[in-house]
Amino acid sequence: MFQPDLLQDKVVLITGGGTGLGRAMGERFLELGAKLAITGRRESVLEETARELSADGRQVFYHACDIRDATQVSELVDAVETHYGQVDVLVNNAAGNFISPTERLSHRAVDAVLNIVLHGTFYMSLEVGKRWIENKHNGVMLNIVTSYAWTGSGYVVPSAAAKAGVLALTRSLAVEWAQYGIRQVAIAPGPFPTEGAWSRLSPTPELANKAIERIPLRRVGEKSELANLAAYLISDYAGYINGEVVTIDGGEWLQGAGEFSGLSEVTTEQWDMLALLTRKGK
Ligand code: HXC
Ligand code: NAP
Repeated sequence: MFQPDLLQDKVVLITGGGTGLGRAMGERFLELGAKLAITGRRESVLEETARELSADGRQVFYHACDIRDATQVSELVDAVETHYGQVDVLVNNAAGNFISPTERLSHRAVDAVLNIVLHGTFYMSLEVGKRWIENKHNGVMLNIVTSYAWTGSGYVVPSAAAKAGVLALTRSLAVEWAQYGIRQVAIAPGPFPTEGAWSRLSPTPELANKAIERIPLRRVGEKSELANLAAYLISDYAGYINGEVVTIDGGEWLQGAGEFSGLSEVTTEQWDMLALLTRKGK
């Protein structure tokens, strides 16, 4: 689908690039010619991912950073610039999340998620954006949100509130920073099995199976599907897309929103009966 030089020599910095969807995006970007920089808190994870992805002479730089700490964020961007000379694309992918009744949360639990998702993303965008503006460097920021960023969701309330904030950040900066040649895009994934998400959100087979019933396509997402969408959105082919969020969830959130979506469980025989009843209303 893509030309192999789609992202040739673009320096892409991915937060949370050592695992899950961040790693899958990085792998795809490398195949398309990009130079990769990945970050996360655990250096050993980054080191292993960098080693595995840098086969065939591909360039992967890693630098550990806790994005909740603005000083570490600044040091991270310094390190990437020292290594590659610049950053062309920022992918705000790092997140924290877990399921819990909200009334069970301590304020520290709320902070744990909000500080990673909202503050961390904001610190990253601010640090990179200021440098792009000062150096008159065009760039793209891709933010990974979720499909409940606009609906909200019970039992993941700090995540829902934080992702809504990131969506607002995406749309706000799309307007404010377009004048500097900075483009903003977002992806809202539905369920994509990753160790990080599944261990915290679907920790039992029952919960994981229930998730499938909510998806019209009756399957979870493939990481490669998300990675290909991300590659398109950060590429020059998407140069006129700014402030948009693309949902990739098999139709999940629409099924949840549709008043009559539950009727998919009605059998053919039951529909025959219902047809008789509804025609009576003519
Ligand atoms: C209730 C919890 C909790 C849980 C932690 N806490 N886990 N409370 N239920 N399951 C509370 C702790 O008791 C503590 O409060 C506070 O939160 C901070 O906990 P720490 O473990 O010290 O936090 P920290 O080390 O900063 O870790 C952050 C984290 C962790 C978010 C809690 O899970 C993490 O590092 N996650 C990163 C990766 C991740 O979450 N990936 C999934 C992304 S999936 P007290 O009061 O006891 O001190 C995603 C997509 C969702 O976002 C959409 C799917 C469709
Ligand atoms: P994941 O593997 O747990 O990814 C989260 C990453 O964020 C990890 O690499 C983690 O590394 C990093 N991270 C967490 N806190 C950090 C911090 N303070 N500083 C720096 N890095 C930090 O989960 P995933 O499923 O791939 O999620 C990736 C993105 O997709 C997230 O934005 C998530 O909300 C979104 N998403 C996922 C799904 C899904 O079904 N998988 C659905 C919707 C949205 P360290 O722990 O080493 O720091």
